[in-house]
Amino acid sequence: MVVAPVPQDRQLVELAKRPQHVAIIMDGNGRWAQQNSVSRQAGHRAGAENIRRVIETLALYEVPVLTLFAFSTENWVRPRREVNALIRLIGHFIDRELKQLHENGVRLHHMGSLDPLSSDLRRRVEEAMELTKDNDRITVNVAFNYGGRMEILEAVRHIIEDGVPADRIDEELFATYLETDGLPDADLVIRTAGEQRLSNFLLWQTAYAEYYTTPVYWPDFNVDEIERALIEFSHRQRRFGGVGEDQAKRPPGPKHTG
Ligand code: IPE
Ligand code: IPE
Ligand code: MG
Repeated sequence: MVVAPVPQDRQLVELAKRPQHVAIIMDGNGRWAQQNSVSRQAGHRAGAENIRRVIETLALYEVPVLTLFAFSTENWVRPRREVNALIRLIGHFIDRELKQLHENGVRLHHMGSLDPLSSDLRRRVEEAMELTKDNDRITVNVAFNYGGRMEILEAVRHIIEDGVPADRIDEELFATYLETDGLPDADLVIRTAGEQRLSNFLLWQTAYAEYYTTPVYWPDFNVDEIERALIEFSHRQRRFGGVGEDQAKRPPGPKHTG
């Protein structure tokens, strides 16, 4: 997959205006399935197959971090058959994509809790992370059984377990207890399939993210659609609470909160 930079004729967004962390709520597999008269499970398969295309394109655009929302802590309420099919897709994804992703410098990282998965599947996810841990072209966080509130609560528990004194807890320290420790905050949140909500995704890391929604269903979210989102992002004026252009490059940070 990823071997060369974006071809000249496709360099639609200049490097300085590209996001450092794109976070995607991959929604609409079910509606895509209905539109195409196939089962919801087939919709999820088509969605999983789209992941490689999106990673490839964002890697070409030199976006260093991508977080994909694959299964939320709320998705367990879906019919058992559908939940099982979604869990099985993890194994299929690893079988189908891991080798090539690794060859192309992709670092895979799981976010959320693997506890409900079988020990075999947990082991395969952990092996995929171990295999790719030194890759540095693009970090891809796959949020499966992930919830933003759960992540924040886990951070609080660990801070207490570590006996951190209250006056040492600031934004910088707190962020080190999150699963995105060491990664930049999300700059751009993309939600496919048109809903305008976060659905418990990356609550902390999206504090100053730009939102982009498209009616396109996830399996149809192709290279043109990704470029459309990147172009739109490049036109946003980010102020981070300030008033002018000079604020645009300064992310919010602990130093502003004292
Ligand atoms: C997104 O597609 C995948 C998951 C949430 C697991 P959906 O299954 O939510 O698709 P719609 O929203 O029903 O179309
Ligand atoms: C959000 O989609 C979760 C994922 C894409 C994994 P949902 O389809 O579960 O969200 P709601 O229920 O419409 O908010
Ligand atoms: Mg949905």
